[in-house]
Amino acid sequence: MNTPDGSDPGALDGDDDGPDEALPLLYNVVYCSRASPQVDEAEVARIVATARRLNPQHDITGMLVFGSGIFFQWLEGPRDPVVALMDRLRQDPRHRDVVQLSESEEHRDRVFPAWDMEWVGAQDIHEVLADAMETAEDPAHAATLALLLEELKTGQLSALRPNR
Ligand SMILES: Cc1cc2nc3c(=O)[nH]c(=O)nc-3n(C[C@H](O)[C@H](O)[C@H](O)COP(=O)(O)O)c2cc1C
Repeated sequence: MNTPDGSDPGALDGDDDGPDEALPLLYNVVYCSRASPQVDEAEVARIVATARRLNPQHDITGMLVFGSGIFFQWLEGPRDPVVALMDRLRQDPRHRDVVQLSESEEHRDRVFPAWDMEWVGAQDIHEVLADAMETAEDPAHAATLALLLEELKTGQLSALRPNR
């Protein structure tokens, strides 16, 4: 980066002005879904174990939030494996009503570089996103996370909340 403080406004508009191209091309999908009735914490632990085994093989990182019968997942990695994972996920009977909240592909650093798949409690989601936003070096990143926080606040998740 030619701006050590990450304040290059050019990074916001996606213009090809050089430094971003040095970063890996990352595909990112964020979705939420409704857990199937039989899914309990033990099942979520199995899902997370599978993710931790398989995601490193495909260079995928991210986080999974589970609370009130709702999943919320952030996935980032090379495009083909992430698309393949989304295809598998859509077939998975452990959840339904998969709603994609955002999708992007750009040259950037990972938001969750150290997490092959972290399980975050629903009560912690705002904190996790706010933390990631504060430490984001890329202003475009911070803007995406701010949008996500806003989406959560304005109830996209609660719109999916099951009646039980
Ligand atoms: C909410 C949810 C999140 C999941 N996250 C991942 C994941 O990050 N990585 C992964 O490999 N599988 C994940 N899975 C499991 C996949 O749907 C699938 O079962 C797994 O990738 C193994 O694929 P296979 O059954 O076709 O071998 C998730 C499943 C659910 C219901």
